[in-house]
Amino acid sequence: MKALVVYYSRTGNTRKAGKEIARELGCDVEEIVDTVNRAGPIGFIMAGKQASSKGLTKLKPLTKDPSQYDLVIIGTPVWAATMSSPVRTFIVENKDKLKNVAFFITLGGTGEASTLQGMEEACGKKPMATLTILTSDIKPGAYLDTLKKFVSGLKP
Ligand SMILES: Cc1cc2nc3c(=O)[nH]c(=O)nc-3n(C[C@H](O)[C@H](O)[C@H](O)COP(=O)(O)O)c2cc1C
Repeated sequence: MKALVVYYSRTGNTRKAGKEIARELGCDVEEIVDTVNRAGPIGFIMAGKQASSKGLTKLKPLTKDPSQYDLVIIGTPVWAATMSSPVRTFIVENKDKLKNVAFFITLGGTGEASTLQGMEEACGKKPMATLTILTSDIKPGAYLDTLKKFVSGLKP
């Protein structure tokens, strides 16, 4: 299956996981780039508000066409117990181009089930696999074993 990893990352955690998944699968990767500056404490508060109201944002154009892939692996940080607004925007704008999906999320510790459920509803399809990574496991690399299992479940 031709796969594409698509992720948004505000502070680097989801980027790290996304790049690792793409490296393991040997597949293309696309970072979702938001036009909103989300730096600092104000950026944090606004991001939380926008995510919890299921608001959308304006993204920079993608460089890859999701319709050209059999599988799109979508990664997001958890914001206010749901997906980040840039990832919600990506899904809303590309829903019809997604053939098969898998999800990975990074989070401090709360909101896993609601985030994955929200992503499934927004895509209108069940994911082939999901991966949840705690921020406390990112630096020590403790997530790498589960990441490899997630990836091997996606290989034909
Ligand atoms: C606005 C905002 C809201 C957040 N809400 C949650 C939350 O509800 N539950 C949680 O476990 N972590 C929450 N976090 C923490 C992030 O999910 C976590 O740090 C994530 O790994 C960040 O990914 P990134 O570095 O790719 O941006 C929140 C972070 C931000 C910026």
